[in-house]
Amino acid sequence: MPTELSGKAIALAINKASKTIVAEHSLRPHMLLIQVGEDPASSYYVQSILNTAPKLGCEAELLTLAADCGQQKLLDIILEANSNPDVHGIMIQKPLPGDIDDSVINISINPDKDLDALHPVNLGRILMENEAFLPCTPAAVFYTLKYYGIDPQGKNTVILGRSNVVGKPLANMLLWKRPYANATVTVCHSRTAKLAEICRKADILISAIGSPNFVKADMVAEGSVLIDVGINEITKADGSSAYVGDIDFAACAPKAAAITPVPGGIGRITTSVLYLNLVKASLIAAGINKTVDEYIDIIFSENQKKL
Ligand SMILES: NC(=O)c1ccc[n+]([C@@H]2O[C@H](COP(=O)([O-])OP(=O)(O)OC[C@H]3O[C@@H](n4cnc5c(N)ncnc54)[C@H](OP(=O)(O)O)[C@@H]3O)[C@@H](O)[C@H]2O)c1
Repeated sequence: MPTELSGKAIALAINKASKTIVAEHSLRPHMLLIQVGEDPASSYYVQSILNTAPKLGCEAELLTLAADCGQQKLLDIILEANSNPDVHGIMIQKPLPGDIDDSVINISINPDKDLDALHPVNLGRILMENEAFLPCTPAAVFYTLKYYGIDPQGKNTVILGRSNVVGKPLANMLLWKRPYANATVTVCHSRTAKLAEICRKADILISAIGSPNFVKADMVAEGSVLIDVGINEITKADGSSAYVGDIDFAACAPKAAAITPVPGGIGRITTSVLYLNLVKASLIAAGINKTVDEYIDIIFSENQKKL
């Protein structure tokens, strides 16, 4: 049987790093979390973010705006938070109402408070291999490989999906010239020809397309590592709903060396990365010349599972 890569174990290790940094430097990281409207799925996620703060010695302040507040109102609040020294990080819950342009909002956030790391400056920093905030989901994949000692160096690594949130930043992170990167990366999308053939050549296959059970056993290589970013709601035969990934777990797991489950895999790690970004922002604001990865490396080496 393959190794099941546990999102919970990784999330706990990242949280331990955040908690250690906060305590060691007497920080009080403060996040401003803005939700526009009251979409139930968003509210559920927002609540889990709020619940995590006290466990790590952080503060999370929720500001809920009416769904019809308009783009300018949101921009005014962001601009004020950008210059407020008591706010170390800003997170805007997505999706936003249709009359608000995500790209305008992303670019309005101070890049040094940009917890979702969607500002073009942070995406550019990733490209240039500079110290940056990392977008939560690509970082969750990166830390999964690192925690389990799966070094993609020189490995044929195929990413399904080229979104700005997942596929593109992740591809650039895996191209970094450093440990747990140095991969040979192929990025596929809806226009890719011979997709199954490309997937079969992958030592590491990462799927982020949002299509339930899309990757079948005949698309994966024996002994490959399968990372599933997809979270798809399906209706089961009995009418109840469930969440599955992009990778058909039951069919593909027997061929894999390692695989992430859905739920309980990558999605389980993203809140921890959000707080790691908040701690990073707080270190910057305090002028402390330490990187969060110094702590991650120590904690991961204590817990690291080598495959
Ligand atoms: N685990 C987490 O915390 C987390 C976070 C974010 C997203 N997600 C999940 O990850 C998935 C992707 O999210 P996203 O925001 O990146 O989605 P997105 O913006 O919709 O992008 C999907 C990408 O997949 C490609 N694609 C779609 N169908 C395809 C197919 N049949 N063959 C090949 N490529 C295909 C699209 O190609 P084109 O570019 O050609 O259209 C696009 O590049 C979703 O299930 C989402 O729920 C999970």
